[in-house]
Amino acid sequence: MKDASPQTIFLKDYTPSDYLISKIHLTFDLDDTNTQVISKMNVSANYDFKSLKRDLVLNGEELTLNKIFVDGVELGADQYELIEDGLVIKEVKEEFILEIHNTINPLANKALDGLYKSGSIFCTQNEPEGFRRITYFIDRPDIMAVYTTKVIADKAKYPVLLSNGNPIDSGDLEGGKHFVEWLDPFVKPSYLYALVAGDLGLVQDEFTTMSGRKIDLRIYVDKGNESKCDHAMESLKNSMRWDEEVYGREYDLDIYMIVAVDAFNMGAMENKGLNIFNSAYVLADPKTATDSNFFGVEGVIGHEYFHNWTGNRITCRDWFQLTLKEGLTVFRDQEFSSDMNSRVVNRIANIKTLKSRQFVEDAGPTAHPIKPSSYIEINNFYTMTIYEKGSEVIRMIHTLLGADGFRKGTDKYFELFDGQAVTTEDFIHAMSVANDNYDFTQFKNWYHQAGTPMLDIKTSYNEAAKEYSITVTQSCKPTPGQDEKKPYHMPFGLGLVSKDGADFPLKLKEVFTAQPQIEENILHLTQESETFTFTGIDHEPVPSFNRGFSAPVNLKSDRPLSDFVFLMANDNDEYNRYESAQALAIELMSCLVKDAANGVPLKLDAPFIKAYGELIKDESLDNSFKALILDIPSEGILHQAQDVVDFENTFKVRKFVKETLAKTYEQELSAIYDSLNVDKEYSLSPEAMGERELKNLVLGLLLSTGNSKYDDLAYEQFVKATNMTDEFAALTMIIHSDSKYADEVIEKFFIKWKHETLVMQKWLTAQASARGEKTLGRVKELLSNEVYDKSVPNLVRSLIGTFTANYTEFHNTSGVGYEFITNQIIDIDKLNPQMASRLAGSFKDYKRLPSDLKALVKTSLERILAEKDISRNVYEIVSKTHA
Ligand code: PHE
Ligand code: ZN
Repeated sequence: MKDASPQTIFLKDYTPSDYLISKIHLTFDLDDTNTQVISKMNVSANYDFKSLKRDLVLNGEELTLNKIFVDGVELGADQYELIEDGLVIKEVKEEFILEIHNTINPLANKALDGLYKSGSIFCTQNEPEGFRRITYFIDRPDIMAVYTTKVIADKAKYPVLLSNGNPIDSGDLEGGKHFVEWLDPFVKPSYLYALVAGDLGLVQDEFTTMSGRKIDLRIYVDKGNESKCDHAMESLKNSMRWDEEVYGREYDLDIYMIVAVDAFNMGAMENKGLNIFNSAYVLADPKTATDSNFFGVEGVIGHEYFHNWTGNRITCRDWFQLTLKEGLTVFRDQEFSSDMNSRVVNRIANIKTLKSRQFVEDAGPTAHPIKPSSYIEINNFYTMTIYEKGSEVIRMIHTLLGADGFRKGTDKYFELFDGQAVTTEDFIHAMSVANDNYDFTQFKNWYHQAGTPMLDIKTSYNEAAKEYSITVTQSCKPTPGQDEKKPYHMPFGLGLVSKDGADFPLKLKEVFTAQPQIEENILHLTQESETFTFTGIDHEPVPSFNRGFSAPVNLKSDRPLSDFVFLMANDNDEYNRYESAQALAIELMSCLVKDAANGVPLKLDAPFIKAYGELIKDESLDNSFKALILDIPSEGILHQAQDVVDFENTFKVRKFVKETLAKTYEQELSAIYDSLNVDKEYSLSPEAMGERELKNLVLGLLLSTGNSKYDDLAYEQFVKATNMTDEFAALTMIIHSDSKYADEVIEKFFIKWKHETLVMQKWLTAQASARGEKTLGRVKELLSNEVYDKSVPNLVRSLIGTFTANYTEFHNTSGVGYEFITNQIIDIDKLNPQMASRLAGSFKDYKRLPSDLKALVKTSLERILAEKDISRNVYEIVSKTHA
């Protein structure tokens, strides 16, 4: 460990800064290993100066300090002190100009935090605490300043020099250098600061805002990639229009820039006026990107754009408030994507992500509320919980207030807090005052309690009285540091479906509380246990619970499985049709896993086979929806239902179920494949994407029959494919089914695409996710392949990250999978702690593993903790997992 015991930071310890910085002028003279930084800041006391400590403490990491001036006078060695991770200026005045000269080494920066090089591009990443790796600063989001930047660099190598805001000056300098100066007129926190320099290709367009201002839109990419920016540009313009129409938000600067870089820890970053993106979320053309990549581009472009108002104009007071900007912005990007595409398909995709990833986090060793109360390393809190569960919490507010009420709330939020760094309470306050002081007291438990609530539902029908009752009991298991949970206030979508498939009107028999208990088929759950009785129900209905996934919870009920079969076919809520199919399959497959473990021969439930067949044959279903509903639950979802995870049998059962269904409906499936596998002009319309999705799902099912003619079919698709969706789907399926064509397609794909790093990432993924013991050997071999580079996170995620999700191989009882990943974590941590700590998260199932695997993981965790110099990032995750 770097420090013997890394410090825990607590929300309760928050205090405002003693000093403020209102203006900063930065000058960079760029050089690979020796970049000169000059920072000139206006510093002033935040409070009554007499009451303040006179030492100004600045953050700084990996910096070489050269000179300090206060009001133009250079400081002597006794007037300041370098401390661990910072600098103290002693005996400061109430107001002064502080000028600091320091140097940094961007080439050595493999953590990709602060100023670094991605290939030949200089770029920055400052959220959450990267700015302190550029220069000394009060590096916290409630220090909001106006930034001016002068970038100086070699003109031939770096013709493009960018920073936030608008360019105000430029010119040539001696020695082949040039400069550009930028001014961002909006105050902002340091984490939104950005700088880029490179020899970049440019794609330009413009957008006219609702008030008639013309905005210059620019996407900068590596030269040669300009043709892959159409979708990103289109998505940007759609985002700008959507935010005007739905939220009344207009863009504020005259220029909006996006830069794509290959080496980036996350998806993208919302720096003011100068977004920096992982190239995977900018570059997309039909030949190299799949349909799901296109969705990704649209969603992330939207997300970063929407941050301009929810994140940048109004930002976070401190990092415990992270969900203030992230939950809200994810909600906004999800709604944008729903408006641009099929709403139900998009909602199902979002819920799938939530359930398969956030629910696991909420049940594991790093479970935390969307507003955590402590952290060791804030970088570890860019999580599914803060983002995705955070979005569900915002969505519940939207459901409680209705679309109009929600919009009144956001208007109020912008009116009250524009230009400020605020808290989640401030957001709730705005929502409340704009809606007749709506009472969110109990609702706020969602912000402070971790864990996925469980609703246990009992139903009863009183034939004589024509009354139907449901009793809902909510609970939430203990999570680290939280043994007891208070009941949540949650909106609960309910439908009572009659025999003929219509919904009964919902009329409550008695209303007990002042708050409305039901509005538009939404019940308000507030008690640990409560009963709702509905009148005028003339026969026993089939209940449809939590319609639209109105609350992010798990459900347990006393309903027979035949109800699921009924709802799969009849629910008026499309989401619940999907959900019922999933729930039924989970139920049945969970029993099969137990059977497999007990050596009982596997047999699939006949009514399920039949219901599945009905879906296959249902021609009224939209193809994308059909592809989703026919996709049986993933192994990860099945593991969640197990007290002790059984990787081998879960894999076996899933294979068995797929094979059984495919063999039963081989003819129908094959007919669907043929009907969709026709030469057509490529299109990105939802219909065309739906066709490709269903076609590839069906091909996967056909391959699972084991009939070799489908190997040929997949090979043919691979060879003939004219778009990456079909090509990559075929590649993956051929490798995964261990077909005789596997080696050949691996080779062909490599030769065809080895110069496209984003495509090679797919190639690595397809191989690292293959089952069977040879995969690990292959993954190890790929580490030294020419396309692999451990300093590029996308490549690490594709190869190593994918392997950690290859359950049977990673959790192989021999322990070789664990050993490999443990070595990788230790190795990558030396370069990039954020990447390493993400990998360390793959041990999250530790507590639920069978004892032999648990012992192996324990050894791994202890080996990591025993490493000297492990990062705080990895330490936090591993120690919490081990605890
Ligand atoms: N704030 C970025 C987003 O949500 C994510 C991010 C966090 C990127 C930290 C880089 C570093 O859009
Ligand atoms: Zn974000």
